[in-house]
Amino acid sequence: MQLVGSTTEQFVYVASKDRRFNINELLIIQGGKHGDIKGEVVATASFNRYIPMAGEKNGFVDRDTLEFMKQVGFSIEDESTHLAKVRILDMLTSPAEVGSSVRLPEFAEIRELLVKRGPSEGLTLGAIMGTEEVSKGMPEELENIAYLYERDRGILPQSGVPFIFDYKAMSEYPHIGIFGGSGSGKSFGLRVILEELMKKKIPTVVFDPHFEMEFGNAMDGIPDGFAEDFGGCYEIFTAGKDVGIDFTELTQEDLVNILRASGGSISESMENAARTLYKNKDTFTTFRDRLIDLADALDMGRDRIFRGMKDDTEDRAKLAGYLGLIDAYGNAVPYSGTVKAILWRLNNVARENMFQYNIQPILKAIGSRKTCVVRGSSLWVLTVFASYLIKNLYGRRRKYRDSEFSGEKAEKFPPFVVATDEAHNFAPRASQSPAKDVIREIAQEGRKYGVFLILATQRPALLDDTVTAQLNTKIIFRTVRSVDIATIKEETDISPDEANRLPYMASGSAFISSAVTGRTTAVRIRAAKTVSPHAVNPFEELERDYETEDSRLKQVILKETPVYLGNLKSVMEAAKEETGMVFTREDILQAVDDLVASGRAKRERTPLGEMITEARS
Ligand SMILES: Nc1ncnc2c1ncn2[C@@H]1O[C@H](COP(=O)(O)OP(=O)(O)O)[C@@H](O)[C@H]1O
Ligand SMILES: [Mg+2]
Repeated sequence: MQLVGSTTEQFVYVASKDRRFNINELLIIQGGKHGDIKGEVVATASFNRYIPMAGEKNGFVDRDTLEFMKQVGFSIEDESTHLAKVRILDMLTSPAEVGSSVRLPEFAEIRELLVKRGPSEGLTLGAIMGTEEVSKGMPEELENIAYLYERDRGILPQSGVPFIFDYKAMSEYPHIGIFGGSGSGKSFGLRVILEELMKKKIPTVVFDPHFEMEFGNAMDGIPDGFAEDFGGCYEIFTAGKDVGIDFTELTQEDLVNILRASGGSISESMENAARTLYKNKDTFTTFRDRLIDLADALDMGRDRIFRGMKDDTEDRAKLAGYLGLIDAYGNAVPYSGTVKAILWRLNNVARENMFQYNIQPILKAIGSRKTCVVRGSSLWVLTVFASYLIKNLYGRRRKYRDSEFSGEKAEKFPPFVVATDEAHNFAPRASQSPAKDVIREIAQEGRKYGVFLILATQRPALLDDTVTAQLNTKIIFRTVRSVDIATIKEETDISPDEANRLPYMASGSAFISSAVTGRTTAVRIRAAKTVSPHAVNPFEELERDYETEDSRLKQVILKETPVYLGNLKSVMEAAKEETGMVFTREDILQAVDDLVASGRAKRERTPLGEMITEARS
C-alpha cells in the first residue's frame, strides 16, 4: 500500500495491487518528516481491465493521480487496482509525502483514538466499523461487550473495537441527537443507550409515545454473560392513570403553560384572565367553579342579577355571589367568552384525569436513580404532561443547584437525563408546542445544572434549530430525504463522502459525530439486551411497515392532532411531506370521517370550530 497522487493536509489517496480496502478502516502512513500518520478510509474504489478507468469516470480520483500511479508501476489498464480515499486524523501542517508506504496499525497505536474510556466508565453503544482486523490485538476487557444483531441471524459475536461513549464528558459537551429515517434503527439505538444509562444508574425520564420502552423481555438467544436484568432499574408511569398534574401546586406560570399546551397558542386576554382568576392554593374544583360562576354572571349581566334579586325569582345567595364575582373580576375580565375558552381547555385536560394525580411517584423514582418511562393515552396528553413534568423537574434541579451557591434552603435533587423519541413533536421548528420552551432552555443551559437531553427524530429538518445546534453528539442513521440530509450536513461535521453514504446505510449502522470524540465515527450499534413488547406482533408490523396511501394519510392526521377542520393547511403540508402526494380538502375530510367512525379519533365542537383529537382505545 502506498500514497499516490495529489495529497492535502486533510486527504490522501492510497493504492494497492492486492489488498481491497474496507470503508472506515484505519491506516498508518509511514515515514517522512511527519513520522507515523493515522488515517481513516472514507471511500473506496476498485478497478481492473473489465471496468477500465472506472475511477476516472465516476470522479473518484483525478487524472493526475492516475498518471502518477502509472508512473510508479501500477498498470491500471491490465491489473486490478484498489484505491482508498483516506482522511488524515492527525493535525498536519503540510501535506503528507507522496510515495510514502502505508500499513495497517497495531491496536496499541490507535487505542487512544478509538477507546478513550473503558467499559466501566462509558456507555458501550456498539462496534466501530472498519476495526475488525485491528481489534484482534485488543485487551480482554474490550471483548464480548458489544454483541451485534442481524434481523435474520439474531445475535452475532462482537466484531471490531467497541464504541464506548464517555458520558461524563457530557458535562462539557451536553446532549445527544438521534437522527434517521423510519426503520433505520433509532428506537433500537435509544433502547441501547437507555440500557447503558440504567446500568450506570443515571436518573432518566423517557417519554414513550409508541409504548415500546419496556425492558422486561430479554432478546432472543442472548449469551449469558451479556444478558442483564433491568427489573429494578425502571418504572413505567402513565399520565392520567398513576401520575398527573397537582393543581394545588401550580403557579400562575404553570397554569398559563398548561392552557397553552392544551390548545396551541393562547390569546393575551385569556392569559390575563387566567392570571387574574387563579388563586394560590386553588384546587381544580374551586378554580373551575369560580370560572363557571363568573361566566354565568357575565352572561346575566348586572341588571338581570339585580332584577332577579328584587323579584326573588332566583336563589338570592347565588346571585349575591355572582355580583361579588363581577365586582371582583368584571373589570379585568369583561367577556364570558374568554372565561369559557379557559374552561374548555381546562376541561380537556381534566377529562384525561390529569388533575387527579401528582408527580410524587416520578420524583421518588428519580431520587432513587431509576429510569422513568412516561406514557400518555395520546400524543397530545403526553406532550401536555411532558411540558409540565420537564419544567417541574428542571426547576427543582435548578433551585437545588442555585441554592448551593446562594445558601438558600432547597430540597436535594439529582442531575438527570430527559430522553424522547419523536422529538420534533416536542420541540418543532416551525410551530409552537407546549414543551418547546423548556426543551430549548435545557438545550442552552442544562449543562450548567447537569440536565441532559437525548432527542430522537426521523425528521431533523423539523426539529427546532436552536435545540439541534446544542446537540453536541449526533447519532445519524440511514437518512434518505434530502432536506434532512441537508440539515445533517449543516449541523454536524460529517464529510461529503459520509453524507453520500447516508441513504444506503444498513439498519443499525450510524455515524456518531461528537464533540466528545472530536470526530465522526462509523459505528454498528450493538444488539439490545431486551426487546420491545411490540417487536413480535405481526399486526403491528403490518401497520408500521405496510401502509396503504389511505392509512398513511390517516396517520399523518393523527400525528397532527389536534386538527381544526377550519384550517387544514398544515395537515395538507404534512401529508405531502410524509407521502409525497397531494391530498385535497375532501380527501382529508373523508379520512377524518373514517377515523372518527372507527373510533380512532374524536370530533369536538370548540370556540375555534370543529376539532379532531386522537382517541386511544
Ligand atoms: N443496531 C441494530 N443492529 C441490527 N439491526 C438493527 C439495529 N437497529 C435496528 N435494527 C433493525 O431495524 C429495525 C428497525 O429499527 P427501529 O429501531 O425500530 O427503527 P426506527 O426507530 O428508526 O424506525 C429493527 O426491527 C431491526 O430489525
Ligand atoms: Mg422508532
